[in-house]
Amino acid sequence: MKTLRGMHDIYGDEIYKWQYAEEVIKNTCARFNFNELRTPIIEHAELFQRSVGEDSDIVQKEMYTFVDKGNRNVTLKPEGTAAVVRACIEHNLFDASKFYYISPMFRYERPQAGRFRQFHQFGAEYFGIDNANADAEMILLSREIILALGIQNVTLNINSIGDKVCREQYNFLLREFISHNLNDLCEDCHSRYETNPLRIIDCKNQKCREVIANAPVISNALCDDCNEHFKTLQQILTELGVDFVVNPKIVRGLDYYTKTVFEFQHDGLAICGGGRYDDLVHELDNSKTISAVGFGFGMERLISLTPVSNFKPLDVFIATIGVETITFAQQLAYRMRQIGLRVDYNNSVRSLKSQIKHAFNINAKHLIVIGEDELNHDINIKNLSTKEEMKLNDFIKQMECEKL
Ligand code: HAM
Repeated sequence: MKTLRGMHDIYGDEIYKWQYAEEVIKNTCARFNFNELRTPIIEHAELFQRSVGEDSDIVQKEMYTFVDKGNRNVTLKPEGTAAVVRACIEHNLFDASKFYYISPMFRYERPQAGRFRQFHQFGAEYFGIDNANADAEMILLSREIILALGIQNVTLNINSIGDKVCREQYNFLLREFISHNLNDLCEDCHSRYETNPLRIIDCKNQKCREVIANAPVISNALCDDCNEHFKTLQQILTELGVDFVVNPKIVRGLDYYTKTVFEFQHDGLAICGGGRYDDLVHELDNSKTISAVGFGFGMERLISLTPVSNFKPLDVFIATIGVETITFAQQLAYRMRQIGLRVDYNNSVRSLKSQIKHAFNINAKHLIVIGEDELNHDINIKNLSTKEEMKLNDFIKQMECEKL
């Protein structure tokens, strides 16, 4: 049996990178005063239909949706924002208004480099503030994580896609521009032309790209308020020393965005995407009007670029000679683990030579050998890099002092 297409196991050296990245994310979110929020992996399908958008690729083609035994139409989360908004509405959490999550997501896409059917997102959402400082705060948080993970050559792309009113005007301009080349569009873009022409701008099809190459850009169609918001964001980022590129091609694939959208890209691939979504809370609960801004990182993409891991070698490996030494070694290991050391022991019958080889292979820092002699006499511990030996009791005292 193998994993399903587009799914993957995470193990070996990679798991240490995940642990390191998760640690960095949690610490950085704490510094920015974001709290963790965990939502179920499965939600009512309607939640995503109403938020991500009926004519988005996610809803049209990519959702893992099925009818459960209670005859409910349910979906494995394809993204995190809608679920966080649902939870905030359900538990009235908008007061404590900064949340982050790390969670598996599911999209039935064509698997390729950096694109999976089960992947993980680290996302963050900031509710209740409609100014450009909140947008900048999210950009700062995501950028801080990229920097802390030592990832290089990442470009921040920003754009504004306006609000409902100016987007409608822009869609009108875009339809007019495209109307002369309608037959060159791919099948998907044909229907997008009617339902959401903005989506044609990030179509990957070469012909569609040619059609929209000289299309009017949305920044020229923004209303005064959206224009002011976008200009202010650029000014704030410049004053904070954050490098960015204004990229009119960034329109994002989910329908809920308003005003600012942004992506951190590495080698043309988005490792993080986000933006403002001032209408989503109201669309899901019309008794509330709460502005919001957030982002989502693809964890797999982030990890593949992270040069650092949190691999920590064993402090002590205990070799055993003969079955009768194993219980003693286990007790010794347990005692040393109580003072915070990483310790393991040999729990099988095999030659001392192969045990020592194993200790070097796993980069253990120290080695203890327990034979019959050691059961009754002083035990020595050897530092495997300096080759120095000392009495185990002295070593333990030293470790306890270092802990204090
Ligand atoms: P998204 O752009 O659809 O936005 O996804 C965010 C990130 O998830 C992408 O930039 C990418 O790194 C990663 N990603 C997406 N699909 C896949 C895949 N099939 N395999 C691997 N990685 C993938 C959202 O989901 C929004 N909820 C982000 C957001 C939060 N906007 C506001 N708040």
